[in-house]
Amino acid sequence: MSKAESYTATAKWLHWGMALIWVAAWFVGIVAVHWRDELNPQHQLTFVHKAMASVLLLLIVLRVGWRLTHAAPAMPATMSPLMQRGAFVGHLLLYGVALVGLPMSGWYWSSVADKPILLAGLLLLPPLVEPDQSLYDLAKAIHTYTAWLCGVLVGGHALVALKHHFIDKDNVLAGMLPGRGD
Ligand code: HEM
Ligand code: HEM
Repeated sequence: MSKAESYTATAKWLHWGMALIWVAAWFVGIVAVHWRDELNPQHQLTFVHKAMASVLLLLIVLRVGWRLTHAAPAMPATMSPLMQRGAFVGHLLLYGVALVGLPMSGWYWSSVADKPILLAGLLLLPPLVEPDQSLYDLAKAIHTYTAWLCGVLVGGHALVALKHHFIDKDNVLAGMLPGRGD
């Protein structure tokens, strides 16, 4: 497969590395909230959730920089212009909402709640805004609803990728898998 038909090795590392962190952070977030008494009595899982998820804020800067300087492979000609536009908008939503908006909303929530975020468990992030308990419920609702919306978005994204591979039998998934065209 020629380079033009595949993402670069760096783009693949960033995609799969961030996908792994994202999916793990999503599940840890759910468990931290909904099994609080059983599994998160000392807020250890909340700490892990914030430590992992905040790394996405660093990686997204690298990823967008790389993406702007390295073109994605062309979409298959078998995709209609409408589907190609849909895929483009879907990717924009993944970048803007799942990879930037959601971590930022978590950062905002922790800032209004006056709670620390240790990036990778090591580096204290400065607060985005002044603490303000009157905004707590709003910030919590924004993060929670956005997280669930993104769960649907990412789940749909993975299903569409599998559909390309197993039903349409095109090169969309192959172009993001390791070892092709690197
Ligand atoms: C700097 C980044 C982030 C911070 C500071 C943050 C903070 C938090 C906090 C404090 C909670 C509540 C945990 C608890 O009450 O024990 C939470 C819940 C949650 N977070 Fe995040 N988060 C961040 C990024 C993310 C990302 C990237 C995702 C998705 C991968 C995510 C998904 C969730 C989910 C699904 C919940 C549970 C929502 C619910 O059902 O109530 N968060 N987050
Ligand atoms: C979990 C299984 C996943 C699978 C099977 C998957 C598969 C793929 C594939 C095949 C592409 C290339 C699409 C194309 O060329 O049109 C892609 C691109 C992309 N994926 Fe995923 N992905 C997964 C998870 C994620 C997650 C968790 C995120 C972020 C939260 C994500 C964000 C993106 C973005 C933003 C692109 C667009 C890349 C670009 O062209 O700049 N993916 N994914």
